[in-house]
Amino acid sequence: MTGKNRPIIISHRTNHEIQTMQKVLSYDFTSRINHWVIALAMIGMLGFGLYLAYAGLPRAERGDLIGMHKAIGVLVFGFGLWRVFWRILQGFPKSLSVMPAWQETASKLAHWALLAGILLMPVSGIVASLFHGRAIDVFGWFTIPAQAELSWLASLGSGVHQFAGYGLIGLIALHAGAALKHHVYDADPTLQRMLRGCSEADSAGETHQDTRGAGEVKG
Ligand code: HEM
Ligand code: HEM
Repeated sequence: MTGKNRPIIISHRTNHEIQTMQKVLSYDFTSRINHWVIALAMIGMLGFGLYLAYAGLPRAERGDLIGMHKAIGVLVFGFGLWRVFWRILQGFPKSLSVMPAWQETASKLAHWALLAGILLMPVSGIVASLFHGRAIDVFGWFTIPAQAELSWLASLGSGVHQFAGYGLIGLIALHAGAALKHHVYDADPTLQRMLRGCSEADSAGETHQDTRGAGEVKG
């Protein structure tokens, strides 16, 4: 067998070597939980925010819902900090398919932009509220105190919150579309490893069919 279809044989490797291979090729359980919890939270919060902005709600009801949006947003920020920290600590696994260089670069940029969006959305919302002179009450558990009003900073926060929100919606649509394209059109395990971790061959520590054409590695 030559070139790109040669299998990587990892059958005689030590546990440590197999774990290293798995780390390079797969998403660990924590990463997968982090990804899907934050994905749902961010999509939900984007929808919630748009609803608040455009549903034309009566003033009192809108006020209550904004309070809830802020409180949930602060909790999402806490989990988001942990999620981004964990990704930076672990690094990104290698991509599983042969892609043109521009697609590799676009995918890296998109992943970093998504990570930035996870932090930028709540931070901009928090800054906008606090520097408008409004405290943030998080479900009665704790309150982040209001700051002295700084209207330029509050407006910057609101502007970033609004436009980063629209940018993020476009990016998430592209990102989810790319994941579907990998799954349906390329038929590679990119989506599967974010759902179930590494492929069965990887977890058995046996033969991994290298779709990136890396050649043969023997233990
Ligand atoms: C966690 C992620 C968050 C996401 C994805 C998110 C998303 C959004 C979106 C898409 C809007 C509508 C923007 C527009 O078109 O005007 C919005 C509005 C808003 N968000 Fe957030 N938000 C988040 C967190 C927060 C936090 C933590 C706060 C404050 C503590 C906050 C405060 C607000 C406020 C005050 C509005 C304006 C509502 C209105 O007056 O119509 N958000 N949010
Ligand atoms: C239904 C929606 C989504 C699908 C189907 C999806 C699918 C995926 C898949 C398959 C990967 C792995 C890519 C690879 O191996 O190269 C991935 C990675 C990633 N996704 Fe998503 N995703 C979705 C929503 C989101 C959302 C809403 C965010 C953030 C706002 C997000 C942020 C990320 C990031 C930062 C990565 C890079 C790896 C990591 O840090 O977890 N995804 N996604």
